[in-house]
Amino acid sequence: MVKIELQNLDFGYNGNLVLKNISHQFEKGKLISIVGPNGSGKSTLLKCIDRILKVQKGRILIDAVEISKFKANELAKKIAYVPQSEGGTFPASVFDTVLLGRKPHIQWSPKNDDLKITAATLEKLDLEGISQKSINKLSGGQRQRVFIARALAQQPEILLLDEPTANLDLKHQLEVLKLLKDLSSQGITVIVAIHDLNLALQFSDHFILLKSGELFACGGKEIISNHTIENLYDVKVNVIHNNGDHFIIPKTN
Ligand SMILES: Nc1ncnc2c1ncn2[C@@H]1O[C@H](COP(=O)(O)OP(=O)(O)OP(=O)(O)O)[C@@H](O)[C@H]1O
Ligand SMILES: [Mg+2]
Repeated sequence: MVKIELQNLDFGYNGNLVLKNISHQFEKGKLISIVGPNGSGKSTLLKCIDRILKVQKGRILIDAVEISKFKANELAKKIAYVPQSEGGTFPASVFDTVLLGRKPHIQWSPKNDDLKITAATLEKLDLEGISQKSINKLSGGQRQRVFIARALAQQPEILLLDEPTANLDLKHQLEVLKLLKDLSSQGITVIVAIHDLNLALQFSDHFILLKSGELFACGGKEIISNHTIENLYDVKVNVIHNNGDHFIIPKTN
Protein backbone atom coordinates (compact mmCIF):
# COMPACT_ATOMS: atom_id res chain seq x y z
CA MET A 1 0.00 0.00 0.00
CA VAL A 2 1.31 3.44 -0.86
CA LYS A 3 1.60 5.82 2.05
CA ILE A 4 3.07 8.98 0.52
CA GLU A 5 2.96 9.91 -3.10
CA LEU A 6 4.82 12.84 -4.66
CA GLN A 7 3.54 13.85 -8.08
CA ASN A 8 5.62 16.15 -10.29
CA LEU A 9 6.71 18.50 -7.50
CA ASP A 10 8.33 21.82 -8.24
CA PHE A 11 9.47 24.12 -5.46
CA GLY A 12 11.51 27.31 -5.69
CA TYR A 13 12.61 30.02 -3.28
CA ASN A 14 11.88 33.43 -4.83
CA GLY A 15 11.56 31.95 -8.28
CA ASN A 16 14.78 29.88 -8.12
CA LEU A 17 13.71 26.31 -8.69
CA VAL A 18 15.18 24.02 -6.03
CA LEU A 19 13.03 20.89 -6.54
CA LYS A 20 12.40 19.97 -10.14
CA ASN A 21 9.62 17.65 -11.18
CA ILE A 22 10.04 15.18 -8.32
CA SER A 23 7.78 12.12 -8.44
CA HIS A 24 8.05 9.22 -6.05
CA GLN A 25 5.97 6.76 -4.05
CA PHE A 26 7.11 5.98 -0.51
CA GLU A 27 6.07 2.58 0.75
CA LYS A 28 4.59 2.26 4.21
CA GLY A 29 6.78 0.82 6.95
CA LYS A 30 10.15 1.41 5.30
CA LEU A 31 13.24 3.34 6.30
CA ILE A 32 14.08 5.60 3.39
CA SER A 33 17.25 7.69 3.15
CA ILE A 34 17.43 10.85 1.10
CA VAL A 35 21.03 11.52 0.12
CA GLY A 36 22.79 14.00 -2.10
CA PRO A 37 25.25 16.91 -2.04
CA ASN A 38 24.82 20.06 0.06
CA GLY A 39 22.15 22.23 -1.47
CA SER A 40 20.60 19.40 -3.52
CA GLY A 41 17.18 19.94 -1.95
CA LYS A 42 16.90 17.30 0.80
CA SER A 43 15.72 19.63 3.57
CA THR A 44 13.43 21.47 1.17
CA LEU A 45 11.78 18.19 0.16
CA LEU A 46 11.17 17.18 3.79
CA LYS A 47 9.66 20.62 4.52
CA CYS A 48 7.34 20.29 1.52
CA ILE A 49 6.14 16.88 2.75
CA ASP A 50 5.45 18.37 6.21
CA ARG A 51 3.64 21.31 4.54
CA ILE A 52 6.03 23.85 6.09
CA LEU A 53 6.67 24.88 2.48
CA LYS A 54 3.98 24.83 -0.18
CA VAL A 55 4.92 23.32 -3.53
CA GLN A 56 4.34 25.54 -6.54
CA LYS A 57 3.47 22.68 -8.83
CA GLY A 58 2.43 19.06 -8.31
CA ARG A 59 0.72 17.21 -5.48
CA ILE A 60 1.63 15.40 -2.26
CA LEU A 61 -0.79 12.67 -1.22
CA ILE A 62 -0.97 10.71 2.00
CA ASP A 63 -3.04 7.57 1.54
CA ALA A 64 -4.51 9.22 -1.56
CA VAL A 65 -5.54 12.41 0.29
CA GLU A 66 -3.82 15.65 -0.70
CA ILE A 67 -1.94 17.14 2.28
CA SER A 68 -3.62 20.53 1.85
CA LYS A 69 -6.90 18.84 2.89
CA PHE A 70 -5.72 18.02 6.43
CA LYS A 71 -6.32 20.35 9.36
CA ALA A 72 -3.08 21.23 11.18
CA ASN A 73 -3.94 18.95 14.10
CA GLU A 74 -4.80 16.02 11.82
CA LEU A 75 -1.56 16.47 9.91
CA ALA A 76 0.40 16.54 13.18
CA LYS A 77 -1.04 13.14 14.11
CA LYS A 78 0.15 11.77 10.77
CA ILE A 79 3.53 13.43 10.32
CA ALA A 80 6.27 14.42 12.77
CA TYR A 81 9.28 16.37 11.59
CA VAL A 82 12.68 16.84 13.19
CA PRO A 83 14.53 19.79 11.63
CA GLN A 84 18.19 19.79 10.65
CA SER A 85 19.17 21.77 13.73
CA GLU A 86 17.03 23.47 16.31
CA GLY A 87 19.01 26.55 17.30
CA GLY A 88 17.68 29.27 19.56
CA THR A 89 16.98 29.21 23.25
CA PHE A 90 14.60 26.74 24.86
CA PRO A 91 14.03 27.58 28.51
CA ALA A 92 11.82 24.49 28.97
CA SER A 93 12.96 21.24 30.59
CA VAL A 94 13.71 18.11 28.56
CA PHE A 95 10.56 16.44 29.97
CA ASP A 96 8.26 19.35 29.08
CA THR A 97 9.75 19.64 25.60
CA VAL A 98 9.13 15.96 24.86
CA LEU A 99 5.64 16.22 26.40
CA LEU A 100 4.95 18.94 23.78
CA GLY A 101 5.05 16.15 21.19
CA ARG A 102 1.76 14.90 22.71
CA LYS A 103 0.03 18.21 21.87
CA PRO A 104 -1.94 16.93 18.83
CA HIS A 105 -3.39 14.16 21.05
CA ILE A 106 -4.20 16.29 24.11
CA GLN A 107 -7.63 17.93 24.44
CA TRP A 108 -7.41 20.05 27.59
CA SER A 109 -4.50 18.96 29.73
CA PRO A 110 -2.10 16.00 29.59
CA LYS A 111 -3.53 12.69 30.83
CA ASN A 112 -1.67 9.92 32.61
CA ASP A 113 -1.11 8.19 29.27
CA ASP A 114 0.63 11.27 27.86
CA LEU A 115 2.98 11.39 30.84
CA LYS A 116 3.68 7.65 30.50
CA ILE A 117 4.42 7.93 26.76
CA THR A 118 6.71 10.88 27.45
CA ALA A 119 8.63 8.96 30.14
CA ALA A 120 8.94 5.87 27.90
CA THR A 121 10.20 7.99 25.00
CA LEU A 122 12.81 9.68 27.21
CA GLU A 123 14.06 6.23 28.17
CA LYS A 124 14.25 5.12 24.51
CA LEU A 125 16.47 8.12 23.68
CA ASP A 126 18.64 7.68 26.75
CA LEU A 127 17.42 10.98 28.23
CA GLU A 128 15.78 9.92 31.49
CA GLY A 129 18.84 10.99 33.53
CA ILE A 130 18.57 14.58 32.30
CA SER A 131 14.78 14.92 32.06
CA GLN A 132 14.63 17.93 34.40
CA LYS A 133 17.52 19.81 32.79
CA SER A 134 16.82 22.90 30.71
CA ILE A 135 17.32 22.44 26.96
CA ASN A 136 19.60 25.50 27.03
CA LYS A 137 22.09 23.57 29.16
CA LEU A 138 22.41 20.52 26.91
CA SER A 139 25.13 19.51 24.49
CA GLY A 140 24.33 19.55 20.75
CA GLY A 141 23.84 15.79 20.62
CA GLN A 142 21.63 15.70 23.74
CA ARG A 143 19.53 18.51 22.27
CA GLN A 144 19.18 16.59 19.01
CA ARG A 145 17.98 13.50 20.86
CA VAL A 146 15.40 15.61 22.73
CA PHE A 147 13.90 16.80 19.43
CA ILE A 148 13.86 13.25 18.07
CA ALA A 149 12.09 12.20 21.30
CA ARG A 150 9.53 15.00 20.91
CA ALA A 151 8.72 13.71 17.40
CA LEU A 152 8.41 10.11 18.63
CA ALA A 153 6.09 11.16 21.47
CA GLN A 154 3.84 12.57 18.76
CA GLN A 155 3.26 8.93 17.67
CA PRO A 156 3.02 9.78 13.97
CA GLU A 157 2.49 7.43 11.04
CA ILE A 158 5.24 9.18 9.12
CA LEU A 159 8.47 10.41 10.66
CA LEU A 160 10.66 12.90 8.79
CA LEU A 161 14.13 13.55 10.18
CA ASP A 162 16.67 15.95 8.76
CA GLU A 163 20.19 14.70 9.52
CA PRO A 164 19.17 13.11 12.82
CA THR A 165 22.62 11.68 13.52
CA ALA A 166 24.68 14.75 12.57
CA ASN A 167 25.60 15.72 16.15
CA LEU A 168 25.59 12.28 17.71
CA ASP A 169 28.47 10.14 18.96
CA LEU A 170 28.93 6.69 17.44
CA LYS A 171 26.91 4.87 20.10
CA HIS A 172 23.94 7.23 19.78
CA GLN A 173 24.15 7.27 15.96
CA LEU A 174 23.67 3.50 16.02
CA GLU A 175 21.00 3.61 18.73
CA VAL A 176 18.96 6.24 16.89
CA LEU A 177 19.14 4.40 13.59
CA LYS A 178 18.26 1.08 15.24
CA LEU A 179 15.29 2.80 16.85
CA LEU A 180 14.19 4.26 13.51
CA LYS A 181 14.56 0.83 11.90
CA ASP A 182 12.40 -0.72 14.65
CA LEU A 183 9.76 1.96 14.14
CA SER A 184 9.69 1.25 10.41
CA SER A 185 9.26 -2.48 11.18
CA GLN A 186 6.22 -1.49 13.25
CA GLY A 187 4.66 0.14 10.16
CA ILE A 188 5.84 3.74 10.50
CA THR A 189 7.26 5.29 7.35
CA VAL A 190 10.59 6.84 8.30
CA ILE A 191 12.29 9.25 5.91
CA VAL A 192 15.72 10.65 6.81
CA ALA A 193 17.99 13.10 5.06
CA ILE A 194 21.46 11.82 5.85
CA HIS A 195 25.06 12.44 4.76
CA ASP A 196 26.68 9.36 6.29
CA LEU A 197 26.33 6.92 3.41
CA ASN A 198 27.76 3.96 5.31
CA LEU A 199 25.31 4.43 8.15
CA ALA A 200 22.49 4.84 5.63
CA LEU A 201 23.59 1.67 3.80
CA GLN A 202 23.52 -0.31 7.02
CA PHE A 203 19.96 0.58 7.98
CA SER A 204 17.93 1.80 4.98
CA ASP A 205 15.46 -0.17 2.90
CA HIS A 206 15.39 2.38 0.15
CA PHE A 207 17.39 5.33 -1.19
CA ILE A 208 16.45 8.54 -2.89
CA LEU A 209 19.38 10.32 -4.50
CA LEU A 210 18.93 14.03 -5.17
CA LYS A 211 21.22 16.08 -7.37
CA SER A 212 20.59 19.79 -8.03
CA GLY A 213 16.93 19.36 -7.11
CA GLU A 214 16.33 16.44 -9.44
CA LEU A 215 15.66 12.81 -8.63
CA PHE A 216 18.99 11.35 -9.72
CA ALA A 217 18.22 7.73 -8.81
CA CYS A 218 16.11 5.70 -6.40
CA GLY A 219 15.94 2.10 -5.30
CA GLY A 220 17.46 -0.40 -2.89
CA LYS A 221 21.12 -0.84 -1.93
CA GLU A 222 21.83 -2.17 -5.40
CA ILE A 223 21.72 1.37 -6.84
CA ILE A 224 24.68 2.41 -4.66
CA SER A 225 27.55 1.70 -7.07
CA ASN A 226 30.89 3.39 -7.77
CA HIS A 227 29.40 4.93 -10.87
CA THR A 228 26.31 6.38 -9.13
CA ILE A 229 28.17 7.80 -6.13
CA GLU A 230 30.96 9.25 -8.26
CA ASN A 231 28.45 10.99 -10.51
CA LEU A 232 26.33 12.17 -7.60
CA TYR A 233 29.14 13.74 -5.58
CA ASP A 234 31.88 14.21 -8.17
CA VAL A 235 34.40 12.26 -6.09
CA LYS A 236 36.19 8.94 -6.61
CA VAL A 237 35.05 6.07 -4.38
CA ASN A 238 35.29 2.33 -3.97
CA VAL A 239 32.09 0.54 -3.09
CA ILE A 240 33.06 -2.64 -1.24
CA HIS A 241 30.63 -5.57 -1.13
CA ASN A 242 30.96 -7.89 1.82
CA ASN A 243 28.40 -10.58 2.77
CA GLY A 244 25.52 -8.54 1.39
CA ASP A 245 26.73 -5.33 3.06
CA HIS A 246 28.00 -2.35 1.09
CA PHE A 247 30.69 0.06 2.27
CA ILE A 248 31.82 3.24 0.57
CA ILE A 249 35.47 4.20 0.84
CA PRO A 250 36.53 7.50 -0.73
CA LYS A 251 39.66 7.41 -2.90
CA THR A 252 41.89 10.26 -1.89
CA ASN A 253 44.53 9.94 -4.60
N1 LIG B 1 15.10 29.87 3.00
C1 LIG B 1 15.73 29.82 1.83
N2 LIG B 1 15.72 30.88 0.98
C2 LIG B 1 16.33 30.83 -0.22
N3 LIG B 1 17.01 29.76 -0.67
C3 LIG B 1 17.07 28.68 0.13
C4 LIG B 1 16.44 28.65 1.40
N4 LIG B 1 16.66 27.44 1.98
C5 LIG B 1 17.41 26.74 1.10
N5 LIG B 1 17.65 27.48 -0.01
C6 LIG B 1 18.41 27.02 -1.21
O1 LIG B 1 17.76 25.88 -1.73
C7 LIG B 1 18.71 24.91 -2.14
C8 LIG B 1 18.40 23.59 -1.45
O2 LIG B 1 18.61 23.75 -0.06
P1 LIG B 1 18.34 22.58 0.97
O3 LIG B 1 18.50 23.17 2.32
O4 LIG B 1 17.06 21.92 0.65
O5 LIG B 1 19.56 21.60 0.61
P2 LIG B 1 20.05 20.29 1.36
O6 LIG B 1 20.14 19.20 0.35
O7 LIG B 1 19.24 20.03 2.56
O8 LIG B 1 21.54 20.72 1.77
P3 LIG B 1 22.44 20.31 3.07
O9 LIG B 1 23.03 18.97 2.75
O10 LIG B 1 23.49 21.37 3.08
O11 LIG B 1 21.57 20.32 4.27
C9 LIG B 1 20.09 25.49 -1.87
O12 LIG B 1 20.58 26.04 -3.05
C10 LIG B 1 19.82 26.57 -0.85
O13 LIG B 1 20.73 27.63 -1.00
MG1 LIG C 1 19.64 20.06 4.57
